[in-house]
Parts: sequence; C-alpha cells; structure tokens
Amino acid sequence: MTTNEPSRTQWLGRWGFVLAATGSAVGLGNIWKFPYMTGEYGGGAFVLVYLACILCVGVPIMMTEIALGRRGRGSPIDAIRRVVTESGRSSGWSLLGWMAMLCGFMILSFYVVVAGWSFAYLWKMVSGGLAGSSVDDMAAIFGANNANPFTLGAWSTLVTVATMVIVGKGVQQGIERSVGWMMPGMVVMLLVMIIYGMFSGGFGQAVNFLFAFNASSLSSEGMLAAMGHAFFTLSLASGAILTYGSYLPRRASIGRTTLTVAIADTLVALMAGLAIFPVIFANGMEPNSGPGLIFMSLPLAFQAMPLGTLFGILFFIMLSMAALTSSISMVEATVSWLADNKGVSRKAAAWGTGIVLWVISTLAMLSFNVGADWTLAGKHFFDWLDYLTSRLMMPLGGLGMALLAGFVLKSQAVKDELNLPAGIYALWLFMVRYVSPLAILVIFVDALGLVAVDFGAHWLWLVLILLVLTLAGELVSPRLRRSLQTSD
Ligand code: PHE
Repeated sequence: MTTNEPSRTQWLGRWGFVLAATGSAVGLGNIWKFPYMTGEYGGGAFVLVYLACILCVGVPIMMTEIALGRRGRGSPIDAIRRVVTESGRSSGWSLLGWMAMLCGFMILSFYVVVAGWSFAYLWKMVSGGLAGSSVDDMAAIFGANNANPFTLGAWSTLVTVATMVIVGKGVQQGIERSVGWMMPGMVVMLLVMIIYGMFSGGFGQAVNFLFAFNASSLSSEGMLAAMGHAFFTLSLASGAILTYGSYLPRRASIGRTTLTVAIADTLVALMAGLAIFPVIFANGMEPNSGPGLIFMSLPLAFQAMPLGTLFGILFFIMLSMAALTSSISMVEATVSWLADNKGVSRKAAAWGTGIVLWVISTLAMLSFNVGADWTLAGKHFFDWLDYLTSRLMMPLGGLGMALLAGFVLKSQAVKDELNLPAGIYALWLFMVRYVSPLAILVIFVDALGLVAVDFGAHWLWLVLILLVLTLAGELVSPRLRRSLQTSD
C-alpha cells in the first residue's frame, strides 16, 4: 500500500506540516467569510455552533484526514483507494477522494475572486484610492471595484497565475517559510486593530454581538452554515489537509498537530471578528452587509487610526498572502493526482489545472457584473459554488470519511496510523463513529427540511445531546477499547 513511499516528498518535520496546514486553514475563511457570515446569521449563537462544530466535527475529521493521507501516501483518490484495499474493503470508497478533489477545485474557483478583492484593495491602499471616503463611499467603492469585468478579472487572473506558479514548483518551497512570518504578522495586525477598536467605540457592542447568544437568532440554515464553515475554515473534505497529510513524516504526532492548527485557526477567526465588528458598530453599519463586509468597513478604520495607511497596506499584504497559502492547498490534490497518475510533470499539471480553473473562475467573477442577472433559484454562479461546497459536499465528504475510518477500515490500521494515547484514541473513535456523523446528519436533515421538527429553535437541546453523547463516549470507552482488541 505504500509503494511510492520512498519517493514521496515530505515536510521538513512536524513543524513544516503545522506551518503548511495552518497556512491552508487560515485564510479568507477566517477574515472575510467568518465575520460576514456571523453578521448574516445573527452573531453569538452562530459563533457558538461554529465552535462546537470545530471541536466535535472538525478536529476528529481533521485527524482522520491526516491519518488517511499519511497511510495512503497520495492524493485523496489514491490514498483512499490504498487504505481501503489494505483493509480489504471496496475501492468504491475512493469516490470520496474524487468528491474532495472536485470540492477543492470548486472552492478555488470562487476563492480567487475574493483573493482578487484583497489584492485590489492592497492596490487601493497603496495608491491612495480609499483616502477620505465616508461610509457610503465605501459601499460605492466596493461596487465600482466589481463593476468592471476586465479589472476584476485581471485581479483574479493574477491570483490564479500566482497560485499555479507556486504549486508548479512543489509543496515545500516557500510555503513553510512564508507562513512562518505571515501568521505572526497577521496576528500582530489583528491585535493592532482590536486595540484600536477598544479605544474608538463599538467594542462593547462587538463583544456582545459575537459572544452573547441569542438562541432565537439562529435558524436551521444558520446551523448548517456554521457547520459548513467549520469544514471550510479547517480546509477539510476538500483534498487539502488529506494531501498535505500525505507528506507528513511517520514520527509526527497527528493529535498534537491537529490541535495546533485548529487552535491557531479559531483564534485568528475570533480575532478577526473582534477587529471588524467594532468598526461596523462605531460607523453605524449593518452587520449583515454580505460578502463585502470587511472591504467596506476596515478601510474606514485605517483612515482614522494613526499610521493607518501603513497598517492598511500591511494588513492587505497579509490577507493576500494568507489567501495564497490557502489557495495553493486547494489545488494540491488535483495537481499531485495528475502528476502521480497521468505521467505529466508538476508544472504541466499545474498549468493544465490553471487553465480550466481560469475559465470557471471567470464565470464566477462575472456574477458581480455582466452576469448579475444570471441566477438560478436566486443564486449567482459564485454563490452556487460556495453553497454546493460548504453546505453539501464538505459535510457529506466529512460524514463519509468519519464513517470510513470509524466503521469500514480495519481498526488496527487506523489505530497504528493515529498512534494516540489509548484514552484519546477511544474519544476520537467515539467522535468519528457517533458524534460527528450524528451532528452532520441532524443539521442536514434539519436544514434541508426533511423532517417536520425545526431543530433550529431547539439548538440548545442539540448541543446538550451532543455533550451527553460525548460524555457517554468517555464512559463507554474502556468497553469500546476492549471490543476492538477482541475483534482484531
Ligand atoms: N481554510 C481556508 C480558509 O479559511 C479555505 C480552504 C478551504 C482551504 C478548503 C483549502 C481547502 O480560507
């Protein structure tokens, strides 16, 4: 099952993987998407469900994906095929790998547009295009930025080309080093803005909005959005983490690396919320202003704070970098699959993928101008790419991986690969067997309206049930362990 192991590149150690995976996880999802979704779905209750999903669904599934990648030493399709073959199970499970690969590709198709916004705003900061603008001007500037398909397309094309150049060169060069300074830089920038927010008004309101939970503001749809976002922000079920895991050296600890990445990712998202919402409230803006939220609000703060232009430039540099270290991870699965199976070089695979990507992302980009009327069921192409991936494909893919690792594969193989202390292993097993699948199914069934009960209004119960199940898992874990020992 590990036929190509000796030739497969590896990270420079546990730290190399942590940096690359953090680079993948921390991106526009944390700084652009998390705040605007929190604004759209009502604040604290959304944040709570999101955090619960990170813990109960995201972390166990991330461990699973890293283990699958390292065991199978390949892109999602190959890795999953190898591990199921090793366990003597149907290779049909590799469909999960196909879906993940497609999902990463679809995400990138709209992600490059948003990353293009970040580059465009960097340029506006540098060239002074935002100076002296009022709240209303900001909305107009964002609109004008999107109105011209040629300039907007040029920015997303730039991101596509940059991504493909980096991916074509191979995973290690540059990624580890750039994340090493980008992450601390981003944290410092967010801290500067949080401190500014503390002194310029709106901070109390922001804290309240983010952390006071008002159960009634959370719809079933909001729950699905929160869960989908947990997958998105941790780069799960989209080929990224699994493929990165395939380069992880044997001796690295999967448990510790996962926790490090998940904690870093969550902290950055919460900090982004604390940096952005004070500006929103202090300027009397609406939290539910949609995907333009950070672009319409943050420049207001940069205008008002001391050294604002410098901070603004630094911020958009960091954001663009964070977007790039995520975007390269989205195509890594496709490119490594092509290079491993189709006899093409990495470079050729990257450019081939880039051309297809460019066509699809151009269609996504047109949603903001020429194609403003091209909608299906009220959604643009851009929205559909986001919706299909975050709300359907990632949760379904995650469900598949949890069931695969929890029930289908030989438990000894999974256990060896995870190499966790017994108690933690039992907890992980309980999560992937019961808690994550159950959470995904309940939220799905609820949001798609498949049953008459609207859990959205009773989410507290749901959290409670999950907690009880988790505790029960701890209690029955010795039994689980015994049953595993006898069944192998
Ligand atoms: N996690 C990235 C972010 O938050 C997005 C991403 C999704 C990256 C899927 C890779 C795969 O920006």
